[in-house]
Amino acid sequence: MKKLLKILFILFVVVLVLAGAVYAYLNIAFPKVSAAPDLKIEATPERLERGKYLANGFAFCIDCHSDRDINKFSMPVVAGTEGKGGMDYGEGAGFVPAANITQDKETGIGSWTDGEIFRAITAGVSKDGRFLAPMMPYSLFAGMDKEDLYSIIAYIKTLPAIKYKVPDRSLKFPVNVIFRTIPADANNFGKRPDGTDKIKQGEYYGIACKFCHTQSDQGKYLPGKEFAGGVEFPMPDGSIVRSANITPDKETGIGNMTKELFIAKFKSCIDPANLDIKTRGYNTPMAWNFMAKTITDDDLGAVYDYIMSQKPVQSKVEKFTLQGVK
Ligand code: HEC
Ligand code: HEC
Repeated sequence: MKKLLKILFILFVVVLVLAGAVYAYLNIAFPKVSAAPDLKIEATPERLERGKYLANGFAFCIDCHSDRDINKFSMPVVAGTEGKGGMDYGEGAGFVPAANITQDKETGIGSWTDGEIFRAITAGVSKDGRFLAPMMPYSLFAGMDKEDLYSIIAYIKTLPAIKYKVPDRSLKFPVNVIFRTIPADANNFGKRPDGTDKIKQGEYYGIACKFCHTQSDQGKYLPGKEFAGGVEFPMPDGSIVRSANITPDKETGIGNMTKELFIAKFKSCIDPANLDIKTRGYNTPMAWNFMAKTITDDDLGAVYDYIMSQKPVQSKVEKFTLQGVK
């Protein structure tokens, strides 16, 4: 008996030491990314304009990194808080507030080099080497055209400093270990579409649409479910909203929605009078107002063409589980 206890004890110590070694290894070996590149991005008027268009549109930087008015439909950005951060994107993983990306030198990124910002956006590590949680969708940005990323950085650096210390994030186990291993050097940059191929144009700009409208498992889209919706978004009031099926399926998707109606649906969300959630009866995480204010009809139309070129998927989505209703 004594001998058995001794063996068990030794086994226990061995397991403990191994676990410690694995933990130490993960901490030392990850995040596995190169040093920030040596970049000096010239803020030309073209870049500033392009960066403004992307950061306030398809790249959603300002949408995630500002205060959002949860009492209005599609939670518009609160004017004057652009880039200040603080909204929580943690969902099941813990508390993950968006960073302050204004020019404040202490609480924002005012002291970062262009290369450090580039690395954060595309590879997922902070200035000090800390890994970023993938709620900051750096792996999606790693697929953009480099020149577009430079434009975004040039523009972000014009965001007026807001002194606001974002609270520390806290990640649950095991995601705190998993997230540490995800950052990676970007090596597959995309190409900005020139507007001749509408489907390619729509594919380039429709990355976030696909992200929210496709169910995934451990970061991989479920095959055959592209754009079929059903991704759950918990709302601040406890309701659950699921993304719509936006495949061209006529019954359960948006196959009967004309391009004109599609664009009009967005544009109707510019007028503040149309953002009353009591009239609508629900709120949504989809940033209709944010997108509509900036994105051109041509780019929205291209996204429509791209979505319509996809396979129709028959899958009925129950869009809402409103609070108190089961
Ligand atoms: C879906 C929401 C979302 C979008 C879109 C998004 N971010 Fe973030 N971002 C976050 C969150 C959340 C964090 C904090 C992650 C963490 O601390 O682990 C973050 C962190 C960062 C950081 C690191 C700052 C620091 O102090 O470590 C930078 C820089 C940044 N984002 C810039 C951008 C830019 C530029 C864009 C647009 C190209 C963008 N983000 C788009 C949510 C988002
Ligand atoms: C943050 C996640 C998110 C993003 C990003 C997003 N959506 Fe949505 N979308 C939703 C959710 C949730 C709904 C269901 C609630 C609603 O109608 O707003 C929805 C609804 C829709 C609908 C309404 C469908 C119907 O049957 O009326 C369309 C169309 C749509 N999205 C298209 C898009 C396109 C195009 C993009 C990219 C430009 C996009 N969405 C980006 C989450 C998102």
